[in-house]
Amino acid sequence: MQVLKTKAAFRAARSAFGTLGFAPTMGFLHEGHLSLMRRAKVENGAAAASIFVNPTQFAPGGDFDRYPRALERDLAMLDSAGVDLVFAPDPAEMYPPGFDARIEIGGVTEGLEGASRPGHFSGVATVVAKLINVVQPTRAYFGQKDAQQAEVIQKLVRDLDMPVEIVIAPTIREADGLAMSSRNSYLNPDQRKAATVLYRALNTAKALFDTGERDAARLRQAMTQALAAEPVAEVDYVSIADPDTLKELAAVGASGALASMAVKVGPARLIDNLRLG
Ligand code: PAJ
Repeated sequence: MQVLKTKAAFRAARSAFGTLGFAPTMGFLHEGHLSLMRRAKVENGAAAASIFVNPTQFAPGGDFDRYPRALERDLAMLDSAGVDLVFAPDPAEMYPPGFDARIEIGGVTEGLEGASRPGHFSGVATVVAKLINVVQPTRAYFGQKDAQQAEVIQKLVRDLDMPVEIVIAPTIREADGLAMSSRNSYLNPDQRKAATVLYRALNTAKALFDTGERDAARLRQAMTQALAAEPVAEVDYVSIADPDTLKELAAVGASGALASMAVKVGPARLIDNLRLG
């Protein structure tokens, strides 16, 4: 496995490979990340990962400074997953003096995380476009865990004619249902236990949907009620949205819905989602 810190060194190393699967990350890796790496390796001649805590997708006063970092441990995990190339730039390599570009994606960025975190998806779209331009992958892999991000990336490559295939992979969960996330490391044992309420609430909506409920307000209400059972969980939003446009629904139709939520548990703001239908 080669670890490259500059764009020029990465490009030179990449040129020795043909089809390449790429999974960008912010590091502090877990099984959710590694599932993307393994799939990238199976479906392409070689696999690449990036580790870069991207400052432009964090709000001022957000958790950029305390975001967990463990480069040596991450590199060992990537090596065992069969990754061939790692791009691990410093911020100055990605954003040198004079850098002044910004990609804005409309529509799908308006609600949910986009509404709660202004500027977040512009930061994500811009860095992912830069990473794809450096890495030049055949396919790029993203997790359903960040459902709105997955929509944003698909729109980015479609609208800007970027020559890469986007693959969205399922959410990997802990045994008790909590979606794996680097931010789970912020939780103390009590908060970690309380955090299972997100998946329970999503499953409450799914159970109701499976019995025939199609009224979005009642599905949201069921999630809100399930979350209220956990006093330390502080709800940011619960949503029943169209799975393609991410607009809030009044009723769930033939194309189903994305049930999603953002919930603060102690120091961690957690997001999770489940497809209905
Ligand atoms: P990060 O949160 O590190 O996630 C990197 C990739 O792993 C994303 O595609 C994310 O959806 C996926 N992922 C995270 N947890 C997962 C889980 N439990 N199951 C499956 N996949 C999971 O998302 C980012 O970084 C950044 O925004 C990035 C795209 C790298 C741009 O900076």
